[in-house]
Amino acid sequence: MTKFWSSMAKRAKPYIPGEQVNKQNIIKLNTNENPYPPAPNVIRAINGEVNESLRLYPSPTMDELRTTIASYYDVTADNVFVGNGSDEILGFSFMGFFEPGKPIRFPDITYSFYPVYSKVFNIDYETVPLREDFTINKEGFFNSEGGVIFPNPNAPTSLYLGLEDVEEIVQNNKDTVVIVDEAYIDFATESAVNLTKKYENLLVIQTMSKSRALAGLRVGLAIGNEALINALVRMKDSFNSYPVDRLAQAGAIEAMKDVAYFEEMTEKIIATRERTIEALTSLGFNVLPSAANFVFASHDTVAAETLYKKLRERDILIRYFGTEPIENYVRISIGTDDEMDQFLRAVETIIAE
Ligand SMILES: Cc1ncc(COP(=O)(O)O)c(C=O)c1O
Repeated sequence: MTKFWSSMAKRAKPYIPGEQVNKQNIIKLNTNENPYPPAPNVIRAINGEVNESLRLYPSPTMDELRTTIASYYDVTADNVFVGNGSDEILGFSFMGFFEPGKPIRFPDITYSFYPVYSKVFNIDYETVPLREDFTINKEGFFNSEGGVIFPNPNAPTSLYLGLEDVEEIVQNNKDTVVIVDEAYIDFATESAVNLTKKYENLLVIQTMSKSRALAGLRVGLAIGNEALINALVRMKDSFNSYPVDRLAQAGAIEAMKDVAYFEEMTEKIIATRERTIEALTSLGFNVLPSAANFVFASHDTVAAETLYKKLRERDILIRYFGTEPIENYVRISIGTDDEMDQFLRAVETIIAE
């Protein structure tokens, strides 16, 4: 079966994403998608690109998109890289900044794609245990031999690490790259993007999949010192020089421009999150103080697996990992107010059973 596989193909342990079901009326709270549509201008811009120009390749340098992102973050276009989802940029980063034989560090409970990249690119890694309360122990990341990567807020714990702590991790790894994966940062307080102006070894990666409601468009971005961005460009151009297509570039530009819509939807999700945390707490859940568009929770009497399965029977999907030491936790994405009300009613019934 594997006779023709390269050692890389044999070594790979591919990531398994949360399930995508093709069913009507399902309440989908399992992959941290945005429950609201993208900004109307985004749809218009994408529709406007559906024409004969599709026979032409898209802009390989994505100048307009990079300039739009740069002006939002007050950096220059040379500080911006765009990829086909932030997962692709994470992959390019492992290729561009990490070295076999020099172990990198990431938290023991974190985004499960990091070990996947480590495996396929032959990068050794050390996991740094979270503290008892699931917060990141910054000292554990100091002086890493090969580099550091962590999400902020962390996933699936939803907890945000303050910028002073992020800065200390960057300062204590002067000779290696520190990657802060800010997939959920817009639901938290402050991004580390400004620190990239001060530290040449800091790369911030973000996505349009969550706060900008464009998971289906596949657009991620990275911000950092020009030399780091150039390494990513070298990796991209050694792999596929056209990763973000015409439709994605057009839509992403509008998503960055429509700040008012983005802020309104983000605030709405945050308000629903806070209400959900309150309701779950009163139903006997231990809910971590989330700074993301999902919550991480466990219940004293109802096992996480039972909850996941019983909700599934009711066409409500949440994420259950089933691995130690989070085997009794579930991750619940924040949906619309109506979806969360239905979810909470179902949870209440399950607990009563
Ligand atoms: C921490 C983290 N980083 C990155 C991603 C990837 O996002 P995308 O490839 O859609 O940009 C996710 C997706 O769930 C995530 O949870």
